[in-house]
Amino acid sequence: MCARTTGFEADDVQQQIVEADGSIAGQLREHGLAMVDGLASRESVLTFARRVMALAPHRDSDPDTLTTIHDIGQGALRPGLAGLGNGELLAHTEGSSIPEPPRLMLLVCLRQPVSGGEVLLTDGQAVHDHLSATVPVAVELMSRPGTAFYGDGGGRPAQIFTRHPGGRTSIRFRQDELAQFSPVVGRCLPVLKAAIAAHQRTIALLPGQGYLIDNHRYLHARAPFSGPRSCLRALGAPRFPLQPGFGTGDADRDGRRTP
Ligand SMILES: [Fe+2]
Repeated sequence: MCARTTGFEADDVQQQIVEADGSIAGQLREHGLAMVDGLASRESVLTFARRVMALAPHRDSDPDTLTTIHDIGQGALRPGLAGLGNGELLAHTEGSSIPEPPRLMLLVCLRQPVSGGEVLLTDGQAVHDHLSATVPVAVELMSRPGTAFYGDGGGRPAQIFTRHPGGRTSIRFRQDELAQFSPVVGRCLPVLKAAIAAHQRTIALLPGQGYLIDNHRYLHARAPFSGPRSCLRALGAPRFPLQPGFGTGDADRDGRRTP
């Protein structure tokens, strides 16, 4: 990641990014999260994002594929646009209603709000492990295909936990008006939400700071805020090998089944 420096030059940032690439890949594989710093301009965010991922455009992105996340007022009251408001944004994974949710998400703060606006991050692996140890039947039910529906028009069939070969798992979740669940999974949501809350970390980002997450592992959320707040978001596919999902239960963290 980029060490934050006073008065850094573009070349310095580039060098730091080059040095950081290996470290970031390792952090993403092991922890699903890497914090970044020193990305104080749109140009530096774009340069960094292009190095770690093949950028994917989003419905709300600008021509350079970055999305400016700021309060657009009344327009954010429409379904699925709460991220562009100033209210609380509940824990979710990005792009849950599209066929292939992006693997990586980068969010960098450019301007702090007057108050609030902290980011809240939750490791889905910790949530999964927590539930597997306490209410395994809930994990089983939430892993059944076609028990969650995300998006407009009744939603795209999905499931909260997706099983992959080798015992790995990914998480896909939203809890706004574009999410519906089968009755049996609906009854599991209170324990899921409690586990998410138990593992949630609150981070107040300063300008230039941000996070890069494995969007198939980490959930993100935002506290309500007042005053102008501006962030840049990048979505895309990693430019380094990354196994599907995260290791769980009978699979070790490298994805190999344990004896
Ligand atoms: Fe989001």
